[in-house]
Amino acid sequence: MNIVEYRDHFRKTLSSKFKILEIDFIFKSIIDSFFKFDSTLMALNPSKKLSKRQISKLNDSLFLIKNNCPLQYVIGKAFFLDFEIHVNSNVLIPRPETEELVLWSIESLTNGNKVIDLCTGSGCIALALKKNNPSLVVKGLDISRKAISLARKNAKKLKIDIEWLIADIVNFKEEESWFDLVVSNPPYVHPSEIINIHPRVLNYEPKIALLTPKNDPIFYYKHCIDFADKSLKKGGKLFLELNPNYYKEVENQVQNANFSEIQIKNDFMGKKRMLSAVKL
Ligand SMILES: C[S@@+](CC[C@H](N)C(=O)[O-])C[C@H]1O[C@@H](n2cnc3c(N)ncnc32)[C@H](O)[C@@H]1O
Repeated sequence: MNIVEYRDHFRKTLSSKFKILEIDFIFKSIIDSFFKFDSTLMALNPSKKLSKRQISKLNDSLFLIKNNCPLQYVIGKAFFLDFEIHVNSNVLIPRPETEELVLWSIESLTNGNKVIDLCTGSGCIALALKKNNPSLVVKGLDISRKAISLARKNAKKLKIDIEWLIADIVNFKEEESWFDLVVSNPPYVHPSEIINIHPRVLNYEPKIALLTPKNDPIFYYKHCIDFADKSLKKGGKLFLELNPNYYKEVENQVQNANFSEIQIKNDFMGKKRMLSAVKL
């Protein structure tokens, strides 16, 4: 089978799920990632024969995409702002809302600031902050050993120096450190919201990265706020990515702790998605 014949098979198999432009984008991303075939190959050499190994790899990918596996997990990488990171099924695929949170928090940082990213996952937030300003001292924390192992791999690939911590936000304390900025995109989907989640997310992204306990939709926010309250310097800043359905509850929680200048910001979809506050 040649490359164009396989592309046509790919289009036909996925036609009920995606528009043709999306299918072609997925196909090109896969052949580029796996075989380093560039996007002009199909035009310049449409009869390029695929090896048995290549066909088998493409068949596996097609099966996954057909079964709602996100492209990023199939090719093992994702873009965040201006850089590429490894992703796998142990970490959330970074979202555009989180890029907005990073860009907002960058405005508050100055040289040499100490920063911690709680619930770091792939490390995307911590990596973006330090990449933007290498003078920062940045830590990234996650309960998942596998997530931290991937974050470490991402830092190594990008040659970025970050201290990675495997810890539970529920009982994590840093008595020696006073941070200038605490940032987090914690798990924030309440189990009652599962009905609204696409199978692509629900079946493939780690539940530990998504879901809150049934009895407390702002459980992780409470622990991030509590940590920030105890560990931020006076005048230090807290940045949280919000679940728009619970923003008011999170805002109240921050108000009841030692913070002022609480701001809520909309994301590009017009949803209340980010909070910042200043430690009193
Ligand atoms: C929504 S994901 C965010 C990942 C990444 N920061 C991002 O924005 O793409 C939440 C992360 O919280 C981590 N997590 C869940 N429970 C935790 C806990 N008790 N303590 C620390 N991290 C936790 C998960 O492993 C997951 O990586």
